[in-house]
Formats: sequence, C-alpha cells, structure tokens
Amino acid sequence: MRIIPLADPDRSPTGHQLAWLAAAEAGHPLGSAFLRLRSAASQEHLGELTLAVHPAERRAGVGSALLAQVVAAAGAERRRCVIAQAEEGTPGDAFLADRGFRRAATLEYARLALDPAAPSAAPEGPDGYQLLHWDGMVPDELAEAFVAGRSAMDDMPVGEADFGRVVWDVPRMRAAADAVAARGELLSTFAAVEAASGDFVGFTELVLAGDGTGDAQHYGTAVRPDHRGRGIARWLKAAQIHAVRERFPRLAGLLTDTAEENAAMRRVNAALGYRTTHRTFLYQLDM
Ligand SMILES: CC(C)(COP(=O)(O)OP(=O)(O)OC[C@H]1O[C@@H](n2cnc3c(N)ncnc32)[C@H](O)[C@@H]1OP(=O)(O)O)[C@@H](O)C(=O)NCCC(=O)NCCS
Repeated sequence: MRIIPLADPDRSPTGHQLAWLAAAEAGHPLGSAFLRLRSAASQEHLGELTLAVHPAERRAGVGSALLAQVVAAAGAERRRCVIAQAEEGTPGDAFLADRGFRRAATLEYARLALDPAAPSAAPEGPDGYQLLHWDGMVPDELAEAFVAGRSAMDDMPVGEADFGRVVWDVPRMRAAADAVAARGELLSTFAAVEAASGDFVGFTELVLAGDGTGDAQHYGTAVRPDHRGRGIARWLKAAQIHAVRERFPRLAGLLTDTAEENAAMRRVNAALGYRTTHRTFLYQLDM
C-alpha cells in the first residue's frame, strides 16, 4: 500500500483541504482522507477530517495509515485539534474511538416528512416582529444589518467540540451563498426583525436541490439571546416550511441536525413534526 498526497486546487476564501489517496501496489484505490483547514482567525486551530476506506478493504490498517498522515499534517499545520463525525454504532464510530479520538458532542438528526395533501397556513408570529425572506445572498441593502447580528444570534452549542467562534462578515456570507449556488442549489432564508429597532433578531436557512425535489437541508437557525423564549424560532421555521411547501410541492422532506444538549431547538423541531432518524458523534483528537 502507498499513501499518495494529492493536491486539491480548490481554495475558497474560507479555507482549503489537504487530501491523500491510499493505493494498492497494483494501483487500485483503497481509501482516501481529507483534512479541511479553515482560514478564519477563530478556526486556525482546527482540522476537520473525512476518511473513508472501500468496504472490501477494511480492517487491514488502511484507515490507520491514512490517519497517520492526517495527524502528521495537522501537526505541521500547527492545528490544536482534529474533529471528525461518525454515526452511532458504525465502523467509523469504533475506529475513531480506537484511534484515540474522544467524543466531544452528540448530534441528533431529524426529518420532517412533507405531505403535499396536508393543509398548510402561514404561521402567526409574536407581536412586534416582522418576517423577511430572500433567496441566495442577503440583499445588499440588508447585508450589513443582517451580518452584524448574525454571530450574536448563532452561538449554538456543540458539546465540548472545539470549533471556535465563527465571526460572520459580508464576504463570508457571500462565499457561503456562492458555494450553495455553484452546486446548483437554492438557499432560502427567513429572518425576524424587531419592528421598533429594525434590528435583525433571528434567522433560519434551508438549502434545497435546484429542481425542488428530494430532501432539503436546514442550515443555521438562531435567535438573539435577548429575544429568546418568545416563539421566534418556531415561527421562523414554520414560515420556512409553509413557504417551501407552497413553492416546491415535489419536496419530500426537510433534514435537520441539532446538538443533543440544545433542548430548545429540539423542542421546536419536535413540535413542528420532525422525527429523529439517527445520532452521530463529533469526535475530537487533541494534538
Ligand atoms: C472508519 C474506516 C475509515 C476504518 O478504516 P479501516 O481501514 O477499516 O481501519 P483500520 O483497519 O485501520 O482499523 C483500525 C482499528 O479501528 C477499529 N475498527 C475499525 N473498524 C471497525 C469496525 N467495523 N468495528 C469495530 N472496530 C473497528 C479497530 O480497533 C481497528 O483495529 P483492529 O482491526 O486491529 O481491531 C472505514 O470503516 C470507513 O471508511 N467507514 C466509513 C467512513 C467513516 O465512518 N469514516 C470515519 C469518520 S470521517
């Protein structure tokens, strides 16, 4: 077996990734590993690992050999920790535990099955707030105000995982929206604005396939701490669900994942009809 470092030319403003191929002497591939290195100042300590070995080639040390390269590279890049994710009870779960990673967080995955025949009404929100909607990048005239509040809203817990605090700015928002558009997908955002101040106090994002079929994926949902407990998150998500059902009748379902300790978000999801599908663990290797 040989481990061959690959060059991934794809560099975005938010980071790049290192890649390795494990190949047999005869040349056929056995597995691959990717280490994502984010460039944001608050995430320069972090490497995110994705590692896969072909099912026919497992339990022969290929994963361990790839991981050794990843760990050496993370050290050379002065990363403080490497984080990887594996579903509960899978080979990845056993492998990461065996290789010295510790469980830093548990994520609960849930799905809302959409029934096109079921009645849907636009939800009522709490008094004193307005709802805004846009597709893709936030409109220019709203960008500064939305981005200013976004990091304060988005303090979601992820257990003990050392993800660093992402500070959003307009270029970062644009890069994220462009990445979704480049995949041919649609980013739909609902935001809540406090009428008296004009401040953004909450948002929820959903990413759909361009043809509006299959399952869509929820991205962030957050409400500013001083506006929590008023039903804004539930309102935002219910508005998003109502809108996509109207616009994309062939959409089958909505997927979301939430840290286990995020009781508020899990309660909102359960109340809106999302059902748990599986759990994954975030594993962390401290360097
Ligand atoms: C996880 C994965 C990469 C392991 O690759 P691999 O080449 O089989 O791993 P190794 O042979 O180096 O295994 C090293 C140790 O991990 C543990 N391990 C790996 N697979 C395991 C399994 N299915 N059940 C129990 N323990 C397992 C064992 O302790 C093993 O040592 P042993 O075989 O001497 O008992 C592979 O199963 C895979 O591609 N899974 C899907 C993707 C994934 O979950 N990746 C991890 C998160 S990014």
